[in-house]
Amino acid sequence: MQEVFVPAVLGIVSLWCTFGSGTRLDVGSNSAPTLTVLPPSSEELSSTTTATLTCLANKGFPSDWTIRWKVDGTSQKQEASSRVLEKDGQYNWSSTLTLTGQEWNKAGGVTCEAQQNSQTPVTKTLRRADCSG
Ligand SMILES: *[C@@H]1O[C@H](CO)[C@@H](O)[C@H](O)[C@H]1NC(C)=O
Repeated sequence: MQEVFVPAVLGIVSLWCTFGSGTRLDVGSNSAPTLTVLPPSSEELSSTTTATLTCLANKGFPSDWTIRWKVDGTSQKQEASSRVLEKDGQYNWSSTLTLTGQEWNKAGGVTCEAQQNSQTPVTKTLRRADCSG
């Protein structure tokens, strides 16, 4: 079995508040998407009472991964459905979670989780404390 180590690509919108490690893909079989959690923009936080987070899940296969959100370990009802894009046999998902500014302010960590069937999910956590500097 050939394994390829692919570095997480984080430069899509901003490097701010994103971090990650390499994701292992098994070529030609199921592969976990690479997750990136984008924090709410400072514009949104200063001009509205909401905080919208976006989770990008790139290059997964096949299409039956489910994207979910947790705030401090508690599952969230998804506010917006995930969009799925397919290209060259790989799938990208984009999911948004809308919190109130208050919920965001007291959140310690917001986690995006990608799960296939009932297998161990792949997760990425954005720590709000890392965003305040
Ligand atoms: C998925 O995301 C990657 C990285 O941003 C991009 O290169 C690729 O074209 C995207 N695929 C689709 C189907 O949008």
